[in-house]
Amino acid sequence: MKRLIAVIAMALLPVAALASGAEVALEKANVDLHNEAAIQRGAKYFVNYCLGCHSAKYVRYKLFTKVGLTDDQIKQNLIFDGSKVHAHMTNAMSSEYAAEAFGAPAPDLTLEDRVRGADWVYTYLKSFYTDLGRPTGVNNTVFPNVGMPNVLWELEGIKDPVYRYEVLENGHVVAEFESEEEADAKAKTLEGDVRVEKVVDSFASRRPGKLTAGEFDQVARDLATYLAYIGEPVKLERQRLGVWVLLFLVIFTVLAYMMKKEWWKDVH
Ligand code: HEC
Repeated sequence: MKRLIAVIAMALLPVAALASGAEVALEKANVDLHNEAAIQRGAKYFVNYCLGCHSAKYVRYKLFTKVGLTDDQIKQNLIFDGSKVHAHMTNAMSSEYAAEAFGAPAPDLTLEDRVRGADWVYTYLKSFYTDLGRPTGVNNTVFPNVGMPNVLWELEGIKDPVYRYEVLENGHVVAEFESEEEADAKAKTLEGDVRVEKVVDSFASRRPGKLTAGEFDQVARDLATYLAYIGEPVKLERQRLGVWVLLFLVIFTVLAYMMKKEWWKDVH
């Protein structure tokens, strides 16, 4: 039965994955859901750096007692607004306000890992780069023209994009150059449907942050682990519910059959 539900869930997943439209190669997050320390650290980063805009409204703070925190530790380290340990991880920002301030509402992140996957989240957090053409001053290779500012810049530092210019002929990349002039020159020698595309090739550090690159990777991994973890209990809950629904249908079918026999027995 569990397998059946898992199969149905899997069948639905690609639909969600499509929404990411990921052309950029994702880095491996290598999250380990048994690493309780990583989940605890991720939760702490989340309440410090993300909860101001993003809720995780299906999660109660109490959940973190399952990864080794006591009620008191949760109160001291994760709750800043006087909420009870049983309260859900919500915030006071309305989606209308966020839409106005950032051009898009900051979505609830309870199921983010289910929607995008841990590798996407990990790579996304590491892919902010300077773009003065954007209202926030940053852009993101994984999520072009994202409304979110780079909230972790103090830890990570500031990165500038290094571009490469791809020459495409009839939709296929035929050459790549570091300079736009060279790409244009090449394009002129081609026939057919030719265009030059500017893509972010890599990043160059403009200003280091408080953390080394390796330490920052760990922060991104901890956050990805935390998001994978909070998405998980909900998944388990859904599976449990699915089992009951199927069980109900079976019992209901039997009852209906018995009732039919009862009703019709005098007719024949
Ligand atoms: C200042 C407000 C703000 C803060 C703080 C913030 N975000 Fe965001 N975030 C946004 C907004 C707004 C969007 C939606 C961007 C869009 O749709 O263009 C977003 C989008 C995202 C997405 C992509 C959602 C999707 O569409 O799948 C993820 C993942 C995310 N944020 C994670 C985080 C994490 C992790 C933190 C903490 C380290 C954080 N955010 C902190 C405002 C914020």
